[in-house]
Amino acid sequence: MASITRFSQRYDRISGIQELMVDLDRALSGPDHFHMLGGGNPGRIPEMETFFREEMHSLLSEGDRFERALGIYDHPGGSVPFRQSMARLLREECGWDVGPENIALTQGSQNAFFLLMNLFGGQRSDGSPAKIVFPLSPEYIGYEDVGIELGTLQSFLPQVTLLEDGFFRYEIDFDQLKIDETTGAVCLSRPCNPTGNNISEEQLIRLHGICRSFDVPLIIDAAYGLPFPGIVFDDSKPFFRDGCISILSLSKLGLPGLRTGIVVAPDDVVRKIEKLNSIFNLSCGGMGPALTLRSIETGSLLAKCKSILQPHYLRSRNLAIEKLRNGLGDRVRIHESGGAFFLWLWFDAPISTTTLYEKLKEAGVIVVPGKYYFPGLTEDFEHRDRCIRLSFSQEASTIEAGIDTLVEVVGKELASL
Ligand SMILES: Cc1ncc(COP(=O)(O)O)c(C=O)c1O
Repeated sequence: MASITRFSQRYDRISGIQELMVDLDRALSGPDHFHMLGGGNPGRIPEMETFFREEMHSLLSEGDRFERALGIYDHPGGSVPFRQSMARLLREECGWDVGPENIALTQGSQNAFFLLMNLFGGQRSDGSPAKIVFPLSPEYIGYEDVGIELGTLQSFLPQVTLLEDGFFRYEIDFDQLKIDETTGAVCLSRPCNPTGNNISEEQLIRLHGICRSFDVPLIIDAAYGLPFPGIVFDDSKPFFRDGCISILSLSKLGLPGLRTGIVVAPDDVVRKIEKLNSIFNLSCGGMGPALTLRSIETGSLLAKCKSILQPHYLRSRNLAIEKLRNGLGDRVRIHESGGAFFLWLWFDAPISTTTLYEKLKEAGVIVVPGKYYFPGLTEDFEHRDRCIRLSFSQEASTIEAGIDTLVEVVGKELASL
């Protein structure tokens, strides 16, 4: 077929996430069996699957709920009953002062980031550029390349604090952070993908104060956080104040196929999302709201998060840390794990984790090399090629076998130095 060559050059640049997804697909669709410690897929948790199956039965059998979910274009901001119930949940569970006018749904939260980062970032109407600032690298791979205008994203290096027992944590380096009139919005994931970092409330309050003084929104990506799915292992609380935009998702509950993102924001931002939704999608898919509405209203969804989902991931996290410590001792530093289902491993030794990724793949284990997690960072940073992200979302046998192989491969690599 003749090729078409007259594209706008906006998306000529290589997208890191696309490169990685293609590589993972190639590995996983071949004949070899891999232990999957890469990827961002939630685990399959039988009790959660049974719960959602029962919710689907009730959707199918009660009145015309099913026909309405399939047969109607929802409001461009998403199903109105769902937004009302969600606002009630956020008021009652988190104490947030929000109503349905503060909630817009999107086709997955990834879609919300694309919309928000181009609403607040890129060229302003007076021609001046506005940056989306990530105050704490490393950050979520999915932010890479979301800015339609080149150079929209700007990241800052972290302060690295060494902790006891081979742990460490990244913190915002407020002396280096630059938020000013060129900033369009500030964004971070909490808990963080890839590190599991739950940035402290103290740092968040300070960051929020700076954002307020320049009148820029603070976007908090809570895809793994509270109130749901609530994959949080420390005592951190959800954060929402004036000028904050919080992004939630149904995906990490185990429902990524439903593509439902939830933007909680001031009503003028919600109205903009509604406009963009109607351009991109007319309206959002109705199955996510339809399947979960009843359990949001009765409180059973949150109860399952607390009694099944969180303990499941906590057990998996503990298993992964124990196996890494038994196998590698303090030859690997592990980022303090406050939530999400990843461990961020730092090999403080002259090995390349890009090369290590290839060796692990040859040995049958998939992880993600650290280099993908620095969207918008222009400076050199040794951690880029010294870290990997390891997912503990899959079943215990995969975690155990995958880490056994990783210990062997890394052990050889370190011994050869
Ligand atoms: C931190 C973070 N934010 C957002 C997303 C996007 O998720 P979804 O579009 O499925 O809601 C992901 C997915 O892995 C993520 O890890």
